[in-house]
Amino acid sequence: MKNKILVTGGTGYIGSHIVVELQNSGFAVVIADNLCNSKKEIVIQIEKITGVKPDFELVDLKDSGATLQLFEKHKDLSGVIHFAAYKAVGESMEFPLIYYHNNLFSLINTLQAMLKHNINNFVFSSSCTVYGDPDSLPVDEKAVVKPPISPYGNTKQISEEIISDTINTSSLQSISLRYFNPVGAHSSGLIGELPLGVPNNLVPFITQTAIGKRDVLKVFGNDYPTPDGTCIRDYIHVEDLAKAHVAAVERMIGQKQKENCEIFNLGTGAGNSVLEVIKTFEKTSGVKLRYQFADRRPGDIPEVWADTSLANNVLGWKARKNLDDMMRSAWIWEQNLAKGKIF
Ligand code: NAD
Ligand code: WQD
Repeated sequence: MKNKILVTGGTGYIGSHIVVELQNSGFAVVIADNLCNSKKEIVIQIEKITGVKPDFELVDLKDSGATLQLFEKHKDLSGVIHFAAYKAVGESMEFPLIYYHNNLFSLINTLQAMLKHNINNFVFSSSCTVYGDPDSLPVDEKAVVKPPISPYGNTKQISEEIISDTINTSSLQSISLRYFNPVGAHSSGLIGELPLGVPNNLVPFITQTAIGKRDVLKVFGNDYPTPDGTCIRDYIHVEDLAKAHVAAVERMIGQKQKENCEIFNLGTGAGNSVLEVIKTFEKTSGVKLRYQFADRRPGDIPEVWADTSLANNVLGWKARKNLDDMMRSAWIWEQNLAKGKIF
């Protein structure tokens, strides 16, 4: 019998890649998503890649009754990976209550249903945003969690606390994965990021500018105290991220956790500047990108990259793909979307 994993937010950008990796690693998957930021067709795309159609449940996890019903229907789960959340930093500044409501209620309802059904393995999508502007680099998991810059970031901090408190009073065990900057698309070119409206994030803005959907990329600030003046981030390929989730699930199911609440950074361990990302995109795509320097974006920190030793040594996982792979796959995905090959 295959172990069955519930993936909340599984038709989303990161979730869909994890569903593919889980299925390719022999897990059965149920996706629960309300499609507020993804499309049902992603389930078909996943089937094209893996040959297996995951179960799909249209559920709004803000709704506690609907969440309980989902768990009533799927009583045989070995674990849950929780991606379902809103994720746009700027939007969260404008609509904080909508962010707190969605991200926290979805988490609480999922945890309550898990406790009710004695499902104890929980993997959570956290973020490097909890480190704010770190005191030293690379940043490791022991670094202090800084006061959040945005309500979105605060939902990740509060979520980690809710999980920790729940673990202290139940048999739940969790692994929180703090992603740095996930980018790129699946090597099949069949799934990738689908930003709604104007993208906030760098890589989808680059590919949309290159394809002609946007006029020009604004590089936010070229006067930072970095070698070329632009901000530095730890970009990580979404396929590498997917492998780390499978490693986390296998660790939990195999009862290998040393503590009931574990946290791992997921990055490559190296930083790249915005200009390096642009140059790498131009090199791998052969497209000259239209960009101009603009004012700093409020809330941006100059630089951050991960110390990944813990994930490397304890999870036995290491990012393998480089910035060329990230840009190449993101560009293939954008072109496939433009050619109408996906939807
Ligand atoms: P995404 O928006 O593509 O995926 C999230 C999915 O959750 C979507 O399919 C959406 O429809 C679903 N969803 C949202 N609210 C829901 C609800 N109430 N009920 C059911 N489904 C709901 O985002 P993503 O980039 O794949 O991010 C996944 C997770 O990873 C999020 O928790 C995000 O905060 C976290 N994260 C993302 C990044 C990033 O840069 N993309 C970085 C760090 C952490
Ligand atoms: C990367 C760099 C921008 C767009 C965000 C969230 C973080 C996490 C990952 C979820 C920065 C620059 C961007 C543009 C630009 N998400 N940029 N022009 O801000 O590092 O992290 O996603 O948890 O919480 O804050 O990612 O892709 O927005 O920006 O110059 O049009 O690109 O200034 O230096 P960020 P990003």
